[in-house]
Amino acid sequence: MNVLLIGSGGREHALAWKLAASPQIGRLFAAPGNPGIAAHAECVALDVAVHAAVVAFCRDSAVGLVVVGPEAPLVAGLADSLAAAGIRVFGPSAAAARLEGSKGFTKDLCARHGIPTAAYARFNNAPKAKAHVRRLGAPVVVKADGLAAGKGVTVAMTLPEALAAIDDCFEGAFGEAGAEVVVEAYLEGEEASLFCLCDGTTALAFGTAQDHKRVGEGDTGPNTGGMGAYSPAPVMTPQMTERVMREIVEPTLAGMAAAGSPFCGVLYAGLMITAGGPQLIEYNVRFGDPECQVLMLRLDDDLLPLLVAAAEGRLAGHAPRWCDEVALTVVMAAAGYPGRLRTGGTIAGLEAAAAGEDVAIFHAGTALRDGRLVAAGGRVLNVCARGPDIAAARERAYAAVDRVEWADGFCRRDIGWRALARTGSA
Ligand code: AMP
Ligand code: GLY
Repeated sequence: MNVLLIGSGGREHALAWKLAASPQIGRLFAAPGNPGIAAHAECVALDVAVHAAVVAFCRDSAVGLVVVGPEAPLVAGLADSLAAAGIRVFGPSAAAARLEGSKGFTKDLCARHGIPTAAYARFNNAPKAKAHVRRLGAPVVVKADGLAAGKGVTVAMTLPEALAAIDDCFEGAFGEAGAEVVVEAYLEGEEASLFCLCDGTTALAFGTAQDHKRVGEGDTGPNTGGMGAYSPAPVMTPQMTERVMREIVEPTLAGMAAAGSPFCGVLYAGLMITAGGPQLIEYNVRFGDPECQVLMLRLDDDLLPLLVAAAEGRLAGHAPRWCDEVALTVVMAAAGYPGRLRTGGTIAGLEAAAAGEDVAIFHAGTALRDGRLVAAGGRVLNVCARGPDIAAARERAYAAVDRVEWADGFCRRDIGWRALARTGSA
């Protein structure tokens, strides 16, 4: 089967790597792809915002499945356009992508279906939102309703911070995304992510992970898209996963289907495991980046038939096999990230670095310039490794990091600290 993969980051490189290994793959295309993806797929310069162009490409190239990596094209309705043209697609409709595209939509769904999540209220003006946070007091959480590239959430430990965050939203710091604000109660616990493959009615647990959102060691400094991850998340025991499926994911899927917008694709549940049980922090409608990279390293099964089954509503009865080992990824970012970036520096040594035992290196933000591989984004490389335990996976990943020759790159040196602390070896 010919497959078109949409996206250009480390998540898509990991998906391309796994799809290319499928015995069922025909031609694999990526739009736009990146230099790492080009080792596994034919990169095509399609403007994915022009749905008619994507449909025409799929027809011309006999594409049997489109896999959409990032959220923006989903929220923009690419899956709807493909489905309307009779092209099989893995990824939710625009209506179902509201689970990520509107925090207020998701909170209302949770309220209607008794899904555990932080208490909340929605506001479309600053005075009412401020009056509400003054009543609640700090700590409190202020969120821009819409997609804000991971920057629309303020966990305010003081009242002035919360009031300033409300002003930011309504003064346009997040554009349209901030036209509405959700104010939430502060949750305490350990964060973890559960990924589920969904076909509209059936949800299949598809691995757990923990991310490292802050740029600095010890979880300090500004938020980022994610500086590293590992899988599985020790806090997500089989019992906890089962509980989250029953209390959170399954009612969500049923609620979306009942509302006429069944969810097909990856449902990524961001969770807080509190003393009272799991609470939903937020949904994303795609794989996490860099969480996808560690999931792909642990998936022992062929990915392609699973994605086809999800797209065709045939997931029931599938039980993906996972390797028992731990996978960990370290993000190498360009100096300055997440602020002003120093890009353009030459990257070398990747082949030697990737030769380590159970190591894989995915490109997140690279480009080829005059035959040289250069840094072309904030998050540039994902150096991943598998090992029998978190300590071994981490050692292999950092050994590979140390072989990468890139003067302007940096990474956190403490990826995996939380899981290591649990094992007592930190
Ligand atoms: P983002 O991925 O940018 O939406 O970041 C959201 C982050 O804010 C989460 O990963 C949590 O760390 C934090 N957060 C969101 N909602 C809450 C909440 N109700 N209580 C405590 N922390 C929260
Ligand atoms: N790594 C977090 C995300 O993909 O949203």
